[in-house]
Amino acid sequence: MVRDDTSAVHGWKWNEEQFGSVVTPVYLSTAYRYLDEEHAMVSDRGKVIKYAREETPTVRALERVIASLEGYDDALVFSSGMASISTLMLRVLEPGCKLIVPLEMYSTTLQLLESLSKKIGFDVIKVWPSADAIIDALEGDDRAVKTVIFLEVMCNPTLKVIDLNRISRVVQDRENTTLVVDNTFTTPILLHPKDYGASATIHSLTKYLAGHNDVIGGAVAASSAVIQDLWDWRRMLGTVMQPLEAYLTIRGIKTLRVRFVKQCENARAIAEYLLDHPKVKDVMYPGLPSSPYHSIANKIFRAKLYGAVVSFVPRGGRDSIIRFLKELKVIAPSPSLGGPESLISIASASAAKYIPPDVREELGIEDTLLRLSVGLEDVNDLVEDLDKAFAKI
Ligand SMILES: Cc1ncc(COP(=O)(O)O)c(C=O)c1O
Repeated sequence: MVRDDTSAVHGWKWNEEQFGSVVTPVYLSTAYRYLDEEHAMVSDRGKVIKYAREETPTVRALERVIASLEGYDDALVFSSGMASISTLMLRVLEPGCKLIVPLEMYSTTLQLLESLSKKIGFDVIKVWPSADAIIDALEGDDRAVKTVIFLEVMCNPTLKVIDLNRISRVVQDRENTTLVVDNTFTTPILLHPKDYGASATIHSLTKYLAGHNDVIGGAVAASSAVIQDLWDWRRMLGTVMQPLEAYLTIRGIKTLRVRFVKQCENARAIAEYLLDHPKVKDVMYPGLPSSPYHSIANKIFRAKLYGAVVSFVPRGGRDSIIRFLKELKVIAPSPSLGGPESLISIASASAAKYIPPDVREELGIEDTLLRLSVGLEDVNDLVEDLDKAFAKI
């Protein structure tokens, strides 16, 4: 068992090639020589390699990296973060079960879960994004009913941090309760959800792990038993990742720590700059000592880092926010996050779009809340860019 940074670089290896390449070869072939299950190539986990919707060498190489980074036996990768969430949820949720989710999550996830609840017939219990509210929802629960808790520890977009440690103690005591964590914002650098009893950990690989704003992908890491079963769901639903994207993601993960640490440092400097700015009404960043989530973050994060997204509310209405965004020259107005290019978006028009307006208001997601994904640029240029745009509003 090697340490995380070594896994990030070498974890892909399972089929070192006859030519001894030091990076994984990319197998684009959709079909492989196959007679029957006894006369075929198999992967290191015993799956037959015959058709690219099922199992292929380069995709498998990425899965090994993710499993070892998250500390699980195994992992699967998917065509998007949403493909990983929908495939896992179709496997886990069943008629009559209960799903507990925070009111604040990536809103397409919430939209999917609502739609599945109507189709499959289970209850979705949406609660305030806090350990107290989630534990209360569990405690009012019938222990015989299968219950799934699905959450993001750092909520998108206001960056509230949920105390996973407290939830973990309650979940470990309950046989019928499954915890699933979306670790996209926190990454394995800040959090290993498995240490807190998560049965499965999800990623939108599109963000920090692939890390270059050029891949859409998703992952689920879990026990071998869960992955064996989920493998069939992925095969049936056809939600697998493509080999070239898998290769790019393997390459991205090798530099995850150096990128993420610098992005977090840049983000902290920008949060401090925004805090002092007269044209800013509110700054949300758990790295600020004044944040109500600072102490929870210090308790549960593996490093003294607080993520690379900063949310803030400039003074003024929607028109002045639009003018502000148009004035930015380095930071691009765009809804994704996690890459080297800093991106900024109006949360109510992107990540939080499918949260109803009254719930957005309750959560503090004002119509003018901006979510800034801080990239790898020189932080002085980012501050100057923001400064010049503020000067115009
Ligand atoms: C926290 C989180 N989870 C999941 C997703 C969905 O991922 P993808 O866009 O790769 O489907 C997103 C997308 O923004 C996200 O922010």
